[in-house]
Amino acid sequence: MADWFLYIIETDGQRLYTGITTDVPRRFEEHKTGKGARFMRGRKTFTLRHQQKVGNRSLASKAEYAFKQLKRSEKLYWIHHGWIPFHPETGKLMSELEISGVNMSDTEQQTKDPRPYGTEDASFQAAGGEEGIKKLVDAFYQAMDTLPEAKRIRDMHDEDLTVSADKLYRFLCGWLGGPKLFREKYGPIAIPRAHGHLDIGFEDRDAWMRCMEEALKTQDYAEDFNAYLMTQLMVPAERCRTRD
Ligand code: HEM
Repeated sequence: MADWFLYIIETDGQRLYTGITTDVPRRFEEHKTGKGARFMRGRKTFTLRHQQKVGNRSLASKAEYAFKQLKRSEKLYWIHHGWIPFHPETGKLMSELEISGVNMSDTEQQTKDPRPYGTEDASFQAAGGEEGIKKLVDAFYQAMDTLPEAKRIRDMHDEDLTVSADKLYRFLCGWLGGPKLFREKYGPIAIPRAHGHLDIGFEDRDAWMRCMEEALKTQDYAEDFNAYLMTQLMVPAERCRTRD
C-alpha cells in the first residue's frame, strides 16, 4: 500500500495550505500550475515548508484535519520543529506528555526510572548506556547498508562505515545526557555544520529516520522511549537538511 504524506505549502510568503498526497513533488507541481486546490489558484509564490510520511490514507486524512484545526502560530511552531507528532492511530497531535511517556500506568511507572526522558542521563540509561547505544548504531548502519530507500544516503558515506559508526555512537552518548565521548576523541561538533557539505533533501532526512526506526526494532527499549527518540532525533535530522 502506498505511503501517504502530509505537506504544507506557503503561498505568497504568508498563507499556509495543508494537504495530503502519495506523491509530494507531483502534487507540488500541480499546485504551482493551478491544477490543485482552488485556494492556491492565482497565487504567485509557492514554498514547500514541510512534508511528513503519515501512514495510510485514513490516517493521513485524520492528521490533515487535526493540523488544520491549529492556529497559525501553532502551525508555524510545528513547521519549525521539523516533525509533527501525529498519534499513530488517531492522527491527532500527541501532547508532550504522551510523547515522553510520563503518563504511563502507575504499575509500569513504579518499575521504571521515574525521571522523564531528557532529564539528566535518563535517556542515556533508557538507551542501555554505552553498550546499548553501540548496538543501536550498529543496527542503524546495518539498516542503511540494506534498505533500498537508504541507498542514496549510504552512498554519501565512506565504503567503510567504522568511523561513521564510532562517531555517531559517541555523539549519541553525549546527546542523550551521558558522557561526552565525541568531544573527547574528535573535538567539538555542530550537527548542521557537519552536514553542510552534503546534498540532503526531505527524502534523505526521512531515509535516515527510517534506518533509525529499523534499528530501534532490534532493541528492547520501552515503546514510549522509541517514540520519544524518534521525535527528538527528527529535530537534528531536519536541521541537517540542506535543500527543499
Ligand atoms: C538527515 C539525514 C542525515 C544524513 C543523510 C547524514 C549523513 C551523514 C554523512 C554522509 C556523514 C559523513 C560525512 C563526511 O564524512 O563527509 C555524516 C556524519 C555525521 N553524522 Fe550524519 N546524517 C544525517 C543526520 C544525522 C543526525 C540526525 C545525526 C545526529 C543525531 C548525525 C550525526 C552525525 C555525526 C556525529 C557525524 C560525524 C561528523 C564528523 O565527522 O565530524 N547525522 N552524516
